[in-house]
Amino acid sequence: MFTIKSTVGIIGSGAMGNGIAQVAATASHAVMVYDSNEKALIKAEAALRSSLTKLVEKQKISAEKQTEILSNIRFVKSLNDLASCDLIIEAIVENLEIKKSVFSNLEKIVSDTCVLASNTSSLSITSIAAACAKPERVIGIHFFNPATLMPLVEIIPGIATRSDLALACKKLIDTWGKVTVIAKDTPGFIVNRVARPFYSEALRLYEEGIADMPTIDWAMKEIGGFKMGPFELMDLIGHDVNYVVTETVWKQFYYDPKFTPALSQKRLLEAGFLGRKTGRGFYSYAEGSVMPEATKNKELGTQIFTRILVMLINEAADTFYHKIASAGDIDLAMTKGVNYPKGLLKWADELGIDNVVKQLTALKDFYEEDRYRVSPVLKQYFVLKKKFYS
Ligand SMILES: NC(=O)c1ccc[n+]([C@@H]2O[C@H](COP(=O)([O-])OP(=O)(O)OC[C@H]3O[C@@H](n4cnc5c(N)ncnc54)[C@H](O)[C@@H]3O)[C@@H](O)[C@H]2O)c1
Repeated sequence: MFTIKSTVGIIGSGAMGNGIAQVAATASHAVMVYDSNEKALIKAEAALRSSLTKLVEKQKISAEKQTEILSNIRFVKSLNDLASCDLIIEAIVENLEIKKSVFSNLEKIVSDTCVLASNTSSLSITSIAAACAKPERVIGIHFFNPATLMPLVEIIPGIATRSDLALACKKLIDTWGKVTVIAKDTPGFIVNRVARPFYSEALRLYEEGIADMPTIDWAMKEIGGFKMGPFELMDLIGHDVNYVVTETVWKQFYYDPKFTPALSQKRLLEAGFLGRKTGRGFYSYAEGSVMPEATKNKELGTQIFTRILVMLINEAADTFYHKIASAGDIDLAMTKGVNYPKGLLKWADELGIDNVVKQLTALKDFYEEDRYRVSPVLKQYFVLKKKFYS
C-alpha cells in the first residue's frame, strides 16, 4: 500500500507535527507540512533547521543527510497543496470539532486512496472518522513527545477503519525506525491509560500523608528503577497537560473511580502553578530554591513502590483483559513510550500473580473503594496458576 516514494502530508506544524515531519523526511519520504498559522510554519522551519544542525554537530547524521532531509520537506500555505499525498497525519489542536472539520475538508482535496491519520492523544478515532465520507481510510497514528526521539507509535484503527489498514500503517512506520503497537480505539489507548496510576496512586499516598513528595519520588527511582519520580515527572509534563489527560480518561470511562483525578493537582492547575515551565508546580524551581530531601527509609520506600506498582499492573492487566492490546504490545508500549524499566505484565509474572492479587485485595479491603478492585484476569490467573508469559 505504501512505498518509499509515498508522499506524506502533515497538518499542524507544532511540537508534534514538526517532529513527525522530520521522522518521515529522514525515512526518505517527500513531506509536505501545512499549518493554518503562517507564523507557526516559519517557526517550525527554523526549529527543523536548528534540530538537524545539532544532529550534524553531534555526528548523529551527516551534512549530506541534513541536506537530503531538508530537501524532502516543503512547508506549504494551503491545505490544497496536500492533494498529491498518499498519507496525511494530522497533528493540530486537540479539539474534536476542529479535527472533524479538517478531515472533512481534506477528503474534498485528496485522492480516494489517501490514508488520513490523526495523532490525537485522547479523542476517539471513530468519531473523527465519522466526519468523513470514507471513514474506512481513517486511523490513529499516535507518536510520543518528542517524536524524533521517542520510539513508540500506537496505531489505532477506529471501528469503521478498513481491516488491512492498521497492519499497512504498522509496516510503514516500522520502516521509519519506530516501535509500533496496535491498540483498540478506547480512552488513552495503551500508554495514557496504563500510566494513570503512576501519578494518581502517588498523589493518593501524598494526600493521605503516608509519605511526602520527595520520598515517593525517591522510592520510585531508587527502589523501582523508574527514570523519574511521579511528582518530578508531572512537573516536567506540566499540570495543564497531565491533569487534563487524567480528567479526560476519567470522564471518557464514565467516571470510573480508578481514574478519579486528585484535588491537589487540580489546585495547582487553578493556581497556574503548571510545573517547571512556570517555575512552580509540586516543587519550586525558582532561583535559589532547594529541593526538599527524601526520607530514605527502605521499608517505607518499598511500601510506596509496591503499592504504585501493583496498581500499574492492575491497569495493564485490565487493558489486556478488555483486549485493548496484546500482553506483548502493552509491555512494549510502556517500556518504549514512557521508559518504564520493565513491562508491567512481565513484572507481574516475576512478582507472582498471587502476590499482586494479595496486595491489591488488601488495598480493596482497607479502603472499600471500587478504585482498588482487582482485574478479573489477575483473579483468573491466580486461580489457574497462570502467567502472562509462559
Ligand atoms: N504535545 C504532546 O506531548 C503530544 C503527544 C502526543 C500527541 N499529541 C497530540 O498531537 C496534536 C498536536 O499537539 P502539539 O503538542 O503538537 O500541539 P501544538 O499546539 O504544538 O501545535 C498545533 C499546531 O496546529 C496548528 N493548527 C491548529 N488548528 C489548525 C487547523 N485547523 N489547521 C491547520 N493547523 C492548525 C497550530 O497553529 C499549531 O501550530 C494534538 O492532537 C495532541 O493531542 C501531543
